[in-house]
Amino acid sequence: IVLNSHVSGVMNLFVVYFNGIRLLVDSPQPSVLATRGSSVTLPCHYRYEPELSAPRRTRVKWTWLPANTIATNEAFAEETKVMVAMGNRHRSYGSFKGRVRLRRSAPGDMSLVISELQLNDTGRYRCEVIDGLEDVSVTVELELRGVVFPYYAQKGRYHFNFFGAQQACLDQDGTLATFEQLLTAWEEGLDWCNAGWLADGTVQYPITVPRHGCGGENLAPGLRNYGQKQRLLHRYDAFCFSASIKGTVYYLNYPGKLNFTEASRACARDGGQIARVGQLFAAWKLKGLDRCDAGWLADGSVRYPITNPRANCGPPQPGVRSFGFPAPHMKFGVYCYQ
Ligand SMILES: *[C@@H]1O[C@H](CO)[C@@H](O)[C@H](O)[C@H]1NC(C)=O
Ligand SMILES: *[C@@H]1O[C@H](CO)[C@@H](O)[C@H](O)[C@H]1NC(C)=O
Repeated sequence: IVLNSHVSGVMNLFVVYFNGIRLLVDSPQPSVLATRGSSVTLPCHYRYEPELSAPRRTRVKWTWLPANTIATNEAFAEETKVMVAMGNRHRSYGSFKGRVRLRRSAPGDMSLVISELQLNDTGRYRCEVIDGLEDVSVTVELELRGVVFPYYAQKGRYHFNFFGAQQACLDQDGTLATFEQLLTAWEEGLDWCNAGWLADGTVQYPITVPRHGCGGENLAPGLRNYGQKQRLLHRYDAFCFSASIKGTVYYLNYPGKLNFTEASRACARDGGQIARVGQLFAAWKLKGLDRCDAGWLADGSVRYPITNPRANCGPPQPGVRSFGFPAPHMKFGVYCYQ
């Protein structure tokens, strides 16, 4: 018999009874928020009741459902193996090889420690404890602290098929945003009336102020969802997700303004490189970068980050202001990354 009990709404506790003993598996945190590049611990413990006098051959298996498969294909999605352990032996798989270990801070502590977190490590992790034919599991959601930004091509709006959108986000130091990430961004006020690809292959856009042309005035605020689109044929913008890792984004102190070629060179001469769009957004959102000077970025766009809105620095909300993609001979400042 498997009993699922959610004790006090926070603790996840799962139990199986067999042969007069109970195997209990719990995780005190159903979801964990982490930072890109850091280490994170996904908690999972098991114990037997009554306590055992002799050790049993208990196995532990950690599997993973990537965030981009959760929203749409959950029923069909396959969990992939992260780590399998029995006794002191363990084995890790795929992109987790060499990056994961079990914490083992006490008997029954099977918490998973993942290091060097990448943008695409988000999703639902399952800790499954197996004793012979019996098994009990808990799940832990892993989310990353980061920022969602809408992105369109230099060639214009609605230019990317799904794969082009994937590449565009990667080029800007990001990854296609998941549904959850876009939802969080919407809750924090993102309003954007152009549809973009998400990691799950759907096309959506976030509206906080309903209006004509953006789903209509009578539709409640929310994510406007076009559903799954044809990944090769259909063309939209992209919603990318990024998070800062090591390094700094800064506005280059330079006498006078620069065209695009000069801007790239000036960053290189300063020991860095011209910043990518995802890096600027992450510096704005996560490090509070605020600068009322328009600057070139690596993709040929010109933008500036405002955390404290003020006169002559764009609209009254915080945000990264964009001048689009000006002609490359035009003169602006530049944002570099080091
Ligand atoms: C996740 O991102 C890393 C770094 O960008 C990449 O090397 C890896 O292949 C990606 N993994 C998956 C499953 O897409
Ligand atoms: C930028 O200015 C340099 C001269 O400083 C010039 O050689 C170059 O062609 C210009 N680049 C563009 C894209 O206008």
